[in-house]
Amino acid sequence: MKLKAIGLVNSPFKVKEGSPHQGRFSEEISDITIFEEYSEGLDGIENWSNLIIIYWLDRAGPASMRVVPYGKKKKTGLFSTRAPIRPNPLALCTVKLVKKEGNVLTVKGLDALDESPVLDIKPFVADIDCP
Ligand SMILES: C[S@@+](CC[C@H](N)C(=O)[O-])C[C@H]1O[C@@H](n2cnc3c(N)ncnc32)[C@H](O)[C@@H]1O
Repeated sequence: MKLKAIGLVNSPFKVKEGSPHQGRFSEEISDITIFEEYSEGLDGIENWSNLIIIYWLDRAGPASMRVVPYGKKKKTGLFSTRAPIRPNPLALCTVKLVKKEGNVLTVKGLDALDESPVLDIKPFVADIDCP
């Protein structure tokens, strides 16, 4: 498997300490700069109010199969949590699209650290994404 970053996050979160455990509970604004070669793929994205951002947790520690979930005291299996230390450190975050200017998306509610690589963007579609 080969993954390619399609862009980079520019966020106010420079270090893990103080960053939101889920962006959904944050009002902070971030930019996502999409690399020129992929920018044509942004056409039409402004028609969506919410986007799913898939990014790479490039500063996560080694994976562990048992973790203590955020706000809990007892360990549980990794795949029953949203912990960032995973065999494939992928993060998924639903954000609000604030604006698109050229190849830069301004979004609200992203929990990515500054300079996190972005792997994919998909529109949030309630009929599909809400069970
Ligand atoms: C618990 S994870 C959740 C990520 C995503 N919303 C999810 O559920 O898949 C969010 C935390 O990951 C950490 N984080 C964000 N970007 C990171 C990166 N590039 N490398 C390592 N850790 C990161 C931050 O400390 C943040 O609090």
